[in-house]
This record gives sequence, C-alpha cells and structure tokens, in this order.
Amino acid sequence: MRKPFMAGNWKMHESIPEAVVLTQQISNRYKGSWDAVDIVLCPPSIDLRAVWSVLDFDKSSISVGAQNVHWENEGAFTGELSIPMIKDAGMKFSIVGHSERRSMFAETDEMVNRKVRALLAGGLSPIVCVGESLAIRDAGTSMEYVCAQVEAAFAGLDSSQIPSCIIAYEPIWAIGTGRTATPEQAEEICKGIRARVQHLFGDDAAEQIRILYGGSMKPANVEGLIAMPDIDGGLIGGASLKADDFASLVEACI
Ligand code: 13P
Repeated sequence: MRKPFMAGNWKMHESIPEAVVLTQQISNRYKGSWDAVDIVLCPPSIDLRAVWSVLDFDKSSISVGAQNVHWENEGAFTGELSIPMIKDAGMKFSIVGHSERRSMFAETDEMVNRKVRALLAGGLSPIVCVGESLAIRDAGTSMEYVCAQVEAAFAGLDSSQIPSCIIAYEPIWAIGTGRTATPEQAEEICKGIRARVQHLFGDDAAEQIRILYGGSMKPANVEGLIAMPDIDGGLIGGASLKADDFASLVEACI
C-alpha cells in the first residue's frame, strides 16, 4: 500500500507573517491520525525557513518543500536557489516543472530532468508536475503528451530512484479554474502514467511511486478523486491557503 501524500502549493501567496500564521493554523489542526499521510507545505522561498521553524518548534511530522530549485550547486544564477541551500534550510522536497513555470518561465523538459536528477543526487524528493492544456485534451492526445513529459523528466534515472519521486498530474485546464477533472478523467491519466513507469522502470517502481492529482482539488471533490486506485493524494493550490480546507483534504485521505 502506498502512503497518501498531500502537498500544498502556496504559489506566490503569503508574506512571512502570514505564512507563520497559516502554518500555525495548520499545525494546530494536526491529529495523530495525520501521520498516516505524508504532508508537505510548499510556500514561497522567502517563507521556507519561517514555515520550517514553526513546524520544527511544534515537532510536527509535516514537511516543507520548495516550489522550484536550480540544478547547479552554486554560481552566477541570479534569483535562483540551490539544492544545498534548501537542504540546509530543512527542506525535503521541491516541486519541479509546474505548468506555471513551464509556460511563464520557459522551463523545458530538459531543465525538469536536470532538476529531478540534481534533487535525487542531493537526497531530496522531486514532486514532478505534468499535465496537458485544453487544446491537447480536445485533440485527444493527453495520455501520450503526459507520458512523454514523465519519460523526459525521468530520463537517465535508475529504477531504484523512482520510489523517491512523486508525480503530480495537473491538467492545466483545471488549475485555478474551479473546473476539476472528474475522478474518472484523472484516474485514466494517473493509471496511464503508472503503466508508463512500469514499462520504463519495472513493477516495483510502478507499485511504489506516488501519483497525485492537482487542479481545483477542494473538500467538495476530494473524496471521489482520492478513492481512485491510482490517485495517491493531491497537489493543492487555492484550498491549501485555508487551514480548515487543507485539514479536510488531509483527513479525506485517512
Ligand atoms: P489549484 O488547486 O488552485 O487549482 O492549483 C493547483 C495547482 O496548480 C497546484 O500546484
């Protein structure tokens, strides 16, 4: 059985004081049963250490992740954060290849692959985002498009590294739009991703890798999505900014 995985992607929301309050609110809702779920908060980089400190003070099992990293350990890369830096700050995860970074910041499959390999080499887990646009969905080629993104992200990896990776299937047409994929639509692609992982890396890797759904996930639709056999959790945007909603989403996995 795969342990459910729920991650909040705060995107460019929450100043440091706001991030501290939100983290405290989430931490205050913690119950022992939450240990059955891997929970990760991914705030903006300026908040990472403050969020980590709140959770460390509370001796919480909730982890912190970055929203992006550079693959080089150091150098002249203005505006970037390195993996050793986020690791020193207590991070265990980083989101990689979010569709907003692919579309607005020209992140390519090759860059995603470099980040995935560098994170694994540094002992951190990548949360690799994949997902098709509405045009691709309408053209009927979603499965091939998304599986090609997975294959590119994992190029050069060894099958033993796959269980440390998380894939988030986030159809672009469902992000921030209030339009969620139906559980059946999400399951179809997540199942296809798992089949591609099996084809590339074997049974154990496919059985162990956690595949998340992301895109307007909220308390009203989480149950149906989470009930699907190949959906192991969620990458949550808007609803992760409300402690009550995020707590409900975590509890739906238990
Ligand atoms: P929303 O939950 O706000 O649709 O965002 C999803 C997302 O992009 C998470 O990475």
